Amino acid sequence: MAQGRFITLEGGEGVGKSTLARGLQAALSARAEIVLTREPGGAPGADAIRALLVQGDSNRWSAMEEALLLAAARLNHLTQTIKPALARGAWVICDRYYDSTRAYQVAAGGLDAATLNALNTMIQAPAPDLTLVLDLDPTAGVDRSRGASVGEDRFEKKGADFHARVRAEFLAIAEREPRRCAVLDASQPADAVLASALREIEARL
Ligand code: TMP
Repeated sequence: MAQGRFITLEGGEGVGKSTLARGLQAALSARAEIVLTREPGGAPGADAIRALLVQGDSNRWSAMEEALLLAAARLNHLTQTIKPALARGAWVICDRYYDSTRAYQVAAGGLDAATLNALNTMIQAPAPDLTLVLDLDPTAGVDRSRGASVGEDRFEKKGADFHARVRAEFLAIAEREPRRCAVLDASQPADAVLASALREIEARL
């Protein structure tokens, strides 16, 4: 059976990932079945865990507790949504994936990197074929995001230093893994971000 493609979109708060995801779906749907999904979430059990993670007091969970919840949600999402879609040849476009855990829980939250690596191995999380990192100054992004997601602001509330570490880690991941990752300038207008993303997809997949 044809194997699909697994594309992840990463970046801080309010960088325009969901707008890009919709643009990619429209642009690529003539070529393949496109499955748009997101983390945390993307399957019924994972969506229930999402509510625990993104709502409430910002100190409600430690980084380790978040990583364990995220791993359970990710396994549910992989089993019920992502792996079946890839197996039938669909292209999966996923808004956030394990690089977000490395940026938010490890780099900004202080979780040991070895713990995340062990969790990824335990749930057999496949590496994406391509990761598009949307890069934007977090001061601009967090403001944009506050308007968009009412009640889902647990991470937005974590402060400027936290979000600066998140941004720096996404850039570091892209530098460490240049074959998998491409960085896009998310301060451009949405149609220019989409055009850059499509160029990377043409060149790499
Ligand atoms: P979203 O607002 O982009 O949908 O993402 C929800 C929040 O969850 C966002 O603030 C980042 C956070 N998050 C993590 O901290 N670690 C993760 O692994 C994922 C997938 C999301």
